[in-house]
Amino acid sequence: MPSRRAVLKSAALAAAASALPGLSSAVTPAPVAAAGKPLRILILGGTGFTGPFQVAHALARGHQVTVFNRGRRPVPEWGGQVEQLQGDRDTGDLRALQGREWDVCIDNPTTLPAWVRDAGQVLRGRVGHYIFISSISVYADGRPVGITEDAPLARYAGADPLAETPASLAADMAALFGPLKAASEAEARRQFGDHVTIVRPGFIVGPRDETDRFTWWPLRVSAGGEMLVPGDGHEPVQFVDGRDLGEWSVHLAETRTPGVFNATGPDYRLGTDAFVHGLHAVTGGPIRFTHVPAAFLAGQGVAFGADLPIWFPADHRFAGFGQVDNRRAIAAGLRFRPLATTVGDLLAWHRARPDERRRTLRAGMSRERETALLRAWHAAGKGAGEGDGHA
Ligand SMILES: NC(=O)c1ccc[n+]([C@@H]2O[C@H](COP(=O)([O-])OP(=O)(O)OC[C@H]3O[C@@H](n4cnc5c(N)ncnc54)[C@H](OP(=O)(O)O)[C@@H]3O)[C@@H](O)[C@H]2O)c1
Repeated sequence: MPSRRAVLKSAALAAAASALPGLSSAVTPAPVAAAGKPLRILILGGTGFTGPFQVAHALARGHQVTVFNRGRRPVPEWGGQVEQLQGDRDTGDLRALQGREWDVCIDNPTTLPAWVRDAGQVLRGRVGHYIFISSISVYADGRPVGITEDAPLARYAGADPLAETPASLAADMAALFGPLKAASEAEARRQFGDHVTIVRPGFIVGPRDETDRFTWWPLRVSAGGEMLVPGDGHEPVQFVDGRDLGEWSVHLAETRTPGVFNATGPDYRLGTDAFVHGLHAVTGGPIRFTHVPAAFLAGQGVAFGADLPIWFPADHRFAGFGQVDNRRAIAAGLRFRPLATTVGDLLAWHRARPDERRRTLRAGMSRERETALLRAWHAAGKGAGEGDGHA
């Protein structure tokens, strides 16, 4: 039986969380068991996509939480339980962290090695462990099946990665993101030695995901009708619910497990057909799936990863991002909500978004484009429709 204090605390957290869109579903209705030893956790960031999930879980586990950011985003009061420090890593203003100590630091928003260096200068010797949120984009080759954490990393081609700034990164995000994340990982080891955990997420999805990359799929399935399914139905997709990632980050803080981890899911091979049928199991409604080969779509100018987000054909340079080896993270405690839970909560969150965000997604092809592609495919005398067949 949870104690009366735990129940009250859980209720306070739930109330605080419900003030921030998409967060209420992050708070487990039944109280989470308290950690054996409460920690002082510093979260660099903490108010964007995944940070609030970390905060919610860390509080539920009984930890003391401090967040550090510029204070530009809406934050829940967290029942007054979170210390909020302000500074700006763009300008190297980390004064609010000076002279303080924490057991663990989780660094969420960093892509620039200079940000890691600055954090190290203030926090080295003052935090027991440093968790750096990186990305699977660090890998030099995104094609292979089963990329492990030991695969070669993208090399930074410029003169000095520490000289890169937010402006230079923004100007060449596609080319610099992976190499700079990799250089930041190296800087983390330089600053914090062996007391480092590197987390490399794949696509992070679910409530609060403002990229709309995963979100496009369940929304398309829920619209029904004839739906274009790229490829032959077997190409795998991978992603991780932001809440699973947030909770696991706190678990890593508790265990202080050093090392490097690919943080993506699920814990089975999820082919395209299983994926769209899994989405349809949640959305329901009449639908008919029509497979269209990737080569035909490429010939029509379809951009995989953008027009069809998070999906890549077998010969694509990111084909491996649907089948990254995640066994090490699972062994270290990463767990995955069922797809249906992610999708159900995501759709509920999406329905509560402002009109403009509901109308205009930031990823995925329009219905008109899809219809034109299907028309072209049928005109080529192919695919009269296959799949559920109850349109
Ligand atoms: N989305 C994906 O699919 C995906 C995939 C792989 C890896 N990742 C990585 O996962 C991480 C996700 O981070 P998140 O956005 O979920 O973290 P978050 O901690 O929830 O949000 C980002 C935080 O950084 C703060 N921040 C931004 N610029 C700052 C600055 N100059 N100085 C101080 N604070 C600043 C923001 O607050 P203020 O704006 O108020 O400062 C905010 O609190 C990123 O490292 C990303 O590269 C994402």
